[in-house]
Amino acid sequence: MSNKRILLIVTGGIAAYKSLELVRLLKRQGISVRAVMTQSATEFVTPLSMSVMTEDQVYGDMFDLKEEREIGHIQLSRQADLVVICPATANILAKMAAGISDDLATTILLATDKPVLAVPAMNVRMWNHPATQRNLAQLRADGIHIMAPDEGAMACGEFGPGRLPEPPAIAEQICAMLGHDFDTALTSGRSPTTLPSGASPTARPLSGKHILVTAGPTHEAIDPVRYIANRSSGRQGFAIAAAAADLGADVTLIAGPVHLATPRGVARIDVETALDMQAEVDKALPANAAIMVAAVADWRAAQAPEQKIKKDGGEIPALNLTENPDILASLAMHANRPKLLIGFAAETEKIVEHAQTKLAKKGCDWIVANDVSGDVMGGANNAFHIVTKDGVESWPESAKDVIARKLMEKVADALAKG
Ligand code: C5P
Repeated sequence: MSNKRILLIVTGGIAAYKSLELVRLLKRQGISVRAVMTQSATEFVTPLSMSVMTEDQVYGDMFDLKEEREIGHIQLSRQADLVVICPATANILAKMAAGISDDLATTILLATDKPVLAVPAMNVRMWNHPATQRNLAQLRADGIHIMAPDEGAMACGEFGPGRLPEPPAIAEQICAMLGHDFDTALTSGRSPTTLPSGASPTARPLSGKHILVTAGPTHEAIDPVRYIANRSSGRQGFAIAAAAADLGADVTLIAGPVHLATPRGVARIDVETALDMQAEVDKALPANAAIMVAAVADWRAAQAPEQKIKKDGGEIPALNLTENPDILASLAMHANRPKLLIGFAAETEKIVEHAQTKLAKKGCDWIVANDVSGDVMGGANNAFHIVTKDGVESWPESAKDVIARKLMEKVADALAKG
């Protein structure tokens, strides 16, 4: 039997009802749970239900003198191995980012020296709001672990990222952070895992790591209706983001315009142009590793008029181009450079030689080179040559999700070695 203990802070969102199921699953895994509820959480779930599930008193009011005398707010988190906020509303994330402590939950969060996992759940517009994204970046920089919300239909009738992940996935993440074996047999209702067969669902070596992935093409406007693009499908980058999430990482995927579903457990930010992508990459820092898979357009139109360029029978318009920033190269020189920085190189000839030159030119740690002379762009398979300062490792052609998993396992090993 485990002696691991978590302090669960429940805040007030429609997903709060799922916290009861989370407590049930954690207890089945042998983890004890003590709960704190904010005032608004009690509008969604009664403290009595929570108390029945935790088999303990539920804490809520900081100014209850009896409670403060018997077990102070500092003591509550001292007795825990991990503090989990589930669901975490946009409001509590904002308060945490600003260091506000105006109730028991926020006071605990400001006073604790234990690891903290926030599991956000909110309306898609609230999740995508720049203020929330800014707060999340601040919290990551402060060392708070964030579990990416799921994407899907929401209680409010909208669709997108912001849904609370299913309780079994949250329980699994908590176990990984506690170093406690997660027994899937004890968890019913788990959606089928996306791991390749034979992989252990408990192997989450990227747990607690923030991994940034760029994917897809960029579109560079010529005028409001025309743009420059390339043939990148985004599939390899999405497979890498999915593999990172399966290995337990907190994944931010910055995607150019593609028609692909967001992988489970991945926080996706959609962009169009190289300039947008660079701005979102900067905002998403810090990260432990960045994997830059996007086929960023090298050039954009020097001027993109606000009105459509008319075909008036006169001169054929000239397309003047200007260079886009190299996102990978600027990340290599960034004050907040991820510890492991990986670039991709799509080549049609002299693959390894070109990749070696690129490694030096871009200042990254690895270049993953692939031969795009066939139907790799948009196809289902890929073959990688991993070029580092120590040499070249060539992997045979495999399905994009299989090779993505292998790459992320190599990333996990490299991060573990420090
Ligand atoms: O120079 P090239 O486009 O071949 O380099 C490819 C690598 O550099 C990829 O990892 C790609 O995501 C990244 N890149 C970038 N910004 C650019 C061009 C490429 O991040 N403007």
